[in-house]
Amino acid sequence: MEERIISPIEREEDTFEKSLRPQFFSEYIGQDKVKNELGIYIQAAKQREESLDHVLLYGPPGLGKTTMAMVIANEMQVNVRTTSGPAIEKPGDLVAILNELDPGDVLFIDEIHRLPKVVEEMLYSAMEDFYIDIMVGQGTSAHPVHFPLPPFTLVGATTRAGMLSAPLRDRFGIISHMEYYTEADLQEIICRSAAIFSTEIVEEGALEIARRSRGTPRIANRLLKRVRDFAQVEGDGVINRQLADRALLLLQVDHAGLDYVDQKLIKTMIELYNGGPVGLSTLSVNIGEEQETVEDMYEPYLIQKGFLKRTQRGRMVTRLSYEHFNYPYVGE
Ligand SMILES: Nc1ncnc2c1ncn2[C@@H]1O[C@H](COP(=O)(O)OP(=O)(O)O)[C@@H](O)[C@H]1O
Ligand SMILES: [Mg+2]
Repeated sequence: MEERIISPIEREEDTFEKSLRPQFFSEYIGQDKVKNELGIYIQAAKQREESLDHVLLYGPPGLGKTTMAMVIANEMQVNVRTTSGPAIEKPGDLVAILNELDPGDVLFIDEIHRLPKVVEEMLYSAMEDFYIDIMVGQGTSAHPVHFPLPPFTLVGATTRAGMLSAPLRDRFGIISHMEYYTEADLQEIICRSAAIFSTEIVEEGALEIARRSRGTPRIANRLLKRVRDFAQVEGDGVINRQLADRALLLLQVDHAGLDYVDQKLIKTMIELYNGGPVGLSTLSVNIGEEQETVEDMYEPYLIQKGFLKRTQRGRMVTRLSYEHFNYPYVGE
């Protein structure tokens, strides 16, 4: 399953991403609502010469949360320190990080829902009043020491805001939801990336890749990279619609952006379960994926595109699924 090219999770092979990362709002394509909102808060904070309010970015993987955290720091003209929930194992780790911040800096904590509880609790006063209490000494001589911090901006990223505890969530002044990208936005992102790769691409070629990128820039860039190899070896280096189509079919990504696992999932539901309802656990076992993976990574796209729906009794395929895979539709 690791090999799915349409997986939105960052992988080893995605190291090229860094060169593609937009640095400022002006290069950051799409997510207009988030950009406009943040743009105003950033401008206001700069005018007042204050640190920006803490920002929580949530949404599916690959939509540009990490990128946005970097953009925020660049727009604020401050430094950014990057870490992640699982990397901060104990309070001492957090103290060390906070200790290095300069006034106004951005601290980016990826996967913030995975912070250990003791560390999370320490963050409360740090976020709210810019201090932490550290226990010093041992046994009877143990006592808390008040440790003031410079004003800083915490930018947290998570795939689901619901996974955050209420006290932590409440301490973010700005909560921004990242949306799946439109085909037009993805097309623009692909053209921009192609230019950075010095690859020639025609608009229809970019659109063909965009259509099959599941609304996700990470996938769009990954597909572009593969199609580009194909164009170089099998064509004259130029990515046009026909070439993109051929390359993507070879990569087993169909016209709707569904790969073999999606196809297996839908076909299993139709053939074995009459289209559903099927429980999430049954479904996950059938396609050999973790329940959480199916729910967070793969289902949202299928639901958004109308192939699947969630009901009280489980997952059901829609008429579109029957039609897409040429099964006679016998429902409703
Ligand atoms: N709005 C955007 N415009 C252009 N490229 C983007 C945009 N959002 C994301 N990307 C590209 O997609 C890649 C994945 O984005 P990333 O910020 O790592 O996503 P996330 O942190 O949400 O998983 C980035 O390296 C970047 O190249
Ligand atoms: Mg990220």
